[in-house]
Amino acid sequence: MDNFQINLVVAYSQNHAIGKDNQLLWHLADDMAFFKLQTSGKTVVMGKNTYLSLPKKFRPLPNRKNVVISRQEPIEEHENLSWYKSLEEAISALKKTEDEIYIIGGGTIYEQTLPMTDVVYATEVKVDIKGDTYFPSLNPNEWTREVLHSFPKNDKNEYDFEVVKYEKIKL
Ligand SMILES: NC(=O)c1ccc[n+]([C@@H]2O[C@H](COP(=O)([O-])OP(=O)(O)OC[C@H]3O[C@@H](n4cnc5c(N)ncnc54)[C@H](OP(=O)(O)O)[C@@H]3O)[C@@H](O)[C@H]2O)c1
Repeated sequence: MDNFQINLVVAYSQNHAIGKDNQLLWHLADDMAFFKLQTSGKTVVMGKNTYLSLPKKFRPLPNRKNVVISRQEPIEEHENLSWYKSLEEAISALKKTEDEIYIIGGGTIYEQTLPMTDVVYATEVKVDIKGDTYFPSLNPNEWTREVLHSFPKNDKNEYDFEVVKYEKIKL
């Protein structure tokens, strides 16, 4: 596709933690709802750890084409699931069939794909919390920033958070 767009969806804390022990760090029902709405019907790309972190009944993620990156042989099969041995191989194959993809983690995949990402949907969680996996800071000189939604802490959301759209400034 000529106008292939790479989107990235992430949730990070104020100190940029995204996960610990291959799990998320919070329960935010409204963020799950945003993630589902934003990625349904799309192609999602993830590392094997993130795939394995999904509860069995939610993997592959329903109503999405799931692409998993791993140097190992595939460990599960499903009609909505494909495996690639490298990111380069996955992205060049997806460019031929998709007009956009959503990178959904985790730390290693975010780090490798951020330089080629066009749009980041960041859930900014208002807490400082210790993790073992982190997301880099976005340089304000390279990205525009727009707050899409703000959610208060309540019985469904463990912390206050904002959903923010960052677009790469094209030079
Ligand atoms: N807060 C958020 O938004 C969010 C989103 C997603 C995940 N997470 C969290 O992030 C953590 C997982 O992140 P992670 O960094 O540990 O793992 P990850 O990025 O999900 O997966 C890492 C694995 O992906 C494969 N891989 C990565 N780069 C590759 C490449 N270039 N070529 C081939 N294979 C490649 C390797 O699998 P093999 O070892 O099989 O080769 C590698 O071990 C968890 O805590 C999860 O909950 C948070």
